[in-house]
Amino acid sequence: MKVAYISYSKQGYCCAALICVTSLWVSLTFIYDNMPQWQYPRQKMYSTLLTTKTDPLSNGIGQINSLLRRSKDGNVSCETTKTVALIAIRKNLCHSPAEAIAFIKTYKTGSTTVGHIMNRFGYQRNLSFVLNKRKSNGHLMIKNISSKSPRSEFLKPLNVTSGNYKDYKYDMISVHIRYNRRAMNTFMKPYTRFITIIRDPGYQFESAFVHFQFDDAFPIEVKESLKHANTLDRLQEWFRNSTFYVNKLKELKYSGIKGLRYFYAQNNQIFSLGLDVFLHSNRTAVENYISKLDAELDMVLITEYLEESLLVMKRQFCLQVDDILFIPKNQRTEKAKNYTIPRSLYDKMRQWNSVDYQLYQHFNATLWRKVEEYGQNFTKDLQEFRQQLQAVFKNCTKGVFFKRQGHYFENVNYNPVQNASELCQLLAEHKQSLMDKIRKRQL
Ligand SMILES: *[C@@H]1O[C@H](CO)[C@@H](O)[C@H](O)[C@H]1NC(C)=O
Ligand SMILES: *[C@@H]1O[C@H](CO)[C@@H](O)[C@H](O)[C@H]1NC(C)=O
Ligand SMILES: *[C@@H]1O[C@H](CO)[C@@H](O)[C@H](O)[C@H]1NC(C)=O
Ligand SMILES: *[C@@H]1O[C@H](CO)[C@@H](O)[C@H](O)[C@H]1NC(C)=O
Ligand SMILES: *[C@@H]1O[C@H](CO)[C@@H](O)[C@H](O)[C@H]1NC(C)=O
Ligand SMILES: *[C@@H]1O[C@H](CO)[C@@H](O)[C@H](O)[C@H]1NC(C)=O
Ligand SMILES: *[C@@H]1O[C@H](CO)[C@@H](O)[C@H](O)[C@H]1NC(C)=O
Ligand SMILES: *[C@@H]1O[C@H](CO)[C@@H](O)[C@H](O)[C@H]1NC(C)=O
Ligand SMILES: *[C@@H]1O[C@H](CO)[C@@H](O)[C@H](O)[C@H]1NC(C)=O
Ligand SMILES: *[C@@H]1O[C@H](CO)[C@@H](O)[C@H](O)[C@H]1NC(C)=O
Ligand SMILES: *[C@@H]1O[C@H](CO)[C@@H](O)[C@H](O)[C@H]1NC(C)=O
Repeated sequence: MKVAYISYSKQGYCCAALICVTSLWVSLTFIYDNMPQWQYPRQKMYSTLLTTKTDPLSNGIGQINSLLRRSKDGNVSCETTKTVALIAIRKNLCHSPAEAIAFIKTYKTGSTTVGHIMNRFGYQRNLSFVLNKRKSNGHLMIKNISSKSPRSEFLKPLNVTSGNYKDYKYDMISVHIRYNRRAMNTFMKPYTRFITIIRDPGYQFESAFVHFQFDDAFPIEVKESLKHANTLDRLQEWFRNSTFYVNKLKELKYSGIKGLRYFYAQNNQIFSLGLDVFLHSNRTAVENYISKLDAELDMVLITEYLEESLLVMKRQFCLQVDDILFIPKNQRTEKAKNYTIPRSLYDKMRQWNSVDYQLYQHFNATLWRKVEEYGQNFTKDLQEFRQQLQAVFKNCTKGVFFKRQGHYFENVNYNPVQNASELCQLLAEHKQSLMDKIRKRQL
């Protein structure tokens, strides 16, 4: 059994102890950082650790290492200690289920399906969500978040008196919001786990192109000539003059905001994860940022392997299978996506979004490492999970309806069966219906 115990002294420094931690690496590193009076040389400790590297959770080690590297020469701050402690807890203690989850919603990645899973998780447990108080869907889009955001932008949490800002602490994020860990640490509960989802930009960009209508940037005569053209032809036109078109988007409004789409027209996944556009062309900055995300995010789901990702997350966060069940949300109809993307166009989309592709490759590899760590039962568990998904779909839905979105396409939605169980109702209902219930509670 592994149990971690942390306490904070009144003087403001952290003291901590680990009881029965089986991972030598984590415990030694941890104790080292918390015992300033302990004179054991760090280098020697490292060599001890390297020869007794028993921890299979290599990802956890990487995270702790990178934290240590950053704080090597100065005092190990209380914040660092806390983070190391929390990582130790998160990575190793599977009898401590996730209680708070910040899901950084990316665009056109299946994130609405995962967002709905998160909404259900928080709704069933009476948790408080970060929600834009001015938008019924709660999204914060391209806003720059800060420690001041709760008072100016968010609905207040449950059971808190309005205006008691120091008590504005949240358990859940499930909306479009730009990741900013420093700011989020100020208003999320300290044990919150941070997750996101990303998708191969060779496909994701096509979906974003349709959703955001980037072809609004085309000159009138081009628009006219493409009046009856399909998405593929429009995309080809985009790539004929992409630099011009992306800059054109700076002048156009979307959702009432001038220039909004400029931020989403290239590498929008890493943008949502917090890397400013002007840094996308800086290789060092990009590499550093991906390492930072690797160290900070507890789980990165991959759209192409959603079921695999959810299963890994279930294990890592000690969830029940009910917690990860879903019925797909926000998918386009077959009719709306009646074409296959040719390889050449797919390559152009990857190239255009090369930073996102780098991000994707990194975390795709991470996912499959975690699958390996999961062990032999993975295949069997996956098969079982897929059967459960099918069963729940059959059990809980009755008929589809279509909802128009944008100019070109409709989304598929499912009606819950009549007299559905609470779980069925929550699984099958429209995304906004659950969001409305969550919002209403926090009003
Ligand atoms: C560490 O912190 C203590 C107390 O704040 C301070 O006196 C000391 O100079 C610091 N050491 C370094 C190396 O910064
Ligand atoms: C959530 O809150 C409702 C209303 O206050 C209460 O009836 C329910 O038992 C709570 N559920 C949990 C899991 O705490
Ligand atoms: C957010 O901050 C960045 C600089 O860090 C700035 O370039 C950008 O315009 C800001 N965005 C918004 C929507 O205020
Ligand atoms: C909030 O208040 C309600 C009613 O007083 C109570 O049932 C619930 O447990 C409280 N929730 C939290 C998270 O404290
Ligand atoms: C891109 O489009 C603009 C406006 O139509 C035009 O002035 C420019 O020459 C085009 N560039 C290329 C490379 O076609
Ligand atoms: C690129 O980013 C690195 C790391 O953040 C920074 O040191 C460097 O100055 C940046 N280079 C340019 C050209 O902005
Ligand atoms: C796509 O649409 C075209 C024209 O409407 C139709 O002929 C074709 O059969 C459709 N293909 C698929 C795969 O639905
Ligand atoms: C993701 O990683 C797996 C395992 O290495 C690999 O088979 C797959 O091709 C990768 N997916 C993409 C789209 O690169
Ligand atoms: C694998 O599955 C079997 C049968 O369901 C179960 O008994 C066993 O505990 C599982 N192994 C692990 C490591 O979870
Ligand atoms: C499907 O519905 C039946 C009858 O209500 C119930 O017994 C069964 O557990 C449900 N299965 C799932 C996967 O929800
Ligand atoms: C739903 O429940 C009501 C009241 O319990 C019942 O009269 C009705 O027949 C049920 N409908 C279905 C489809 O089971």
